[in-house]
Amino acid sequence: FGNGALRGLKVVVSAGPTYEDIDPVRFIGNRSSGKMGFAVAEAAVHAGAQVTLIAGPVGLPSPAGLRQRVDVRSAAQMHAAVLAASQDAQIYIAAAAVGDYRPAEVADHKIKKQAGADLTLQLAENPDILGSLSAQTVHPFLVGFAAETHDVAAYAQDKLKRKGLDMIAANQVGGGLGFEAADNALQLFWPGGSLSLARANKDELARQLVAQVAERYQAVRA
Ligand code: C5P
Repeated sequence: FGNGALRGLKVVVSAGPTYEDIDPVRFIGNRSSGKMGFAVAEAAVHAGAQVTLIAGPVGLPSPAGLRQRVDVRSAAQMHAAVLAASQDAQIYIAAAAVGDYRPAEVADHKIKKQAGADLTLQLAENPDILGSLSAQTVHPFLVGFAAETHDVAAYAQDKLKRKGLDMIAANQVGGGLGFEAADNALQLFWPGGSLSLARANKDELARQLVAQVAERYQAVRA
C-alpha cells in the first residue's frame, strides 16, 4: 500500500461520536469508538491524500502525516467544522456517528433530582451534515457510512439515494462487529454497483475502502 491512489487530493474524514450536553455534567452520546474513522484517515494519508480529520470526543492519537485535525464535541460543532474543511476538498468520508438529536435547551446549572417524579427531556433535531453538503451545487465526492442492526443492504441503498451520496459503506452492528469492536465487515454500494468486503480488522478494511473510493472517484470525477 502507499500507492498514491489519492495523491494531490484533499480528503476530509469525520470520526467518532458526538456528545450533546444536557447540563454541565451530563450529555447524550453514543458508542462509536472512532477507530474506523481514524483508520480511514490513516489509509487516506498512505494513499497520498492531504487529510483533514474532524474528530468527535475520542481518546485516540492522530495518525501520522495528517494535514490537520479538528477536535469537536457536538453535532453542531462537527457540522461547522466539516463544512469549513470541505470547501476546498475533493472527497468527504463521513465515518462519524453523529447524534440525530440534542437537548432543546442546555441547562447552565446541574439539573437537580426531583424525587418521586419523572423527568422529560425535550430534544431538537440536529443538522444532517452529509445532507447539507449534498444539497450544495458544488460539493466533494461524498462517502457515507450506515451502521444498521438489520436489513443492512436495503437501508444502505435507500440512504445512498436519499442523501445523494456517491458511495455508502454499510456494516452490521452486533455479533462482535461494528461499534467498539476491533473487526468489521462492510458492504459498499454506489450508483450502479456494489462490493462486499469480508470481515477483517478496521485497518485492513479502511485500506480496502479507500482503494474503492479512489477508484470510484477517478471513474466519476477525473
Ligand atoms: O442516517 P444515519 O445516521 O445512519 O446516516 C449515517 C451517515 O450519515 C454517516 O455517514 C454519518 O456520518 C452521516 N450523518 C451526517 N449527519 C447527521 C447524521 C448522520 O452526516 N446528522
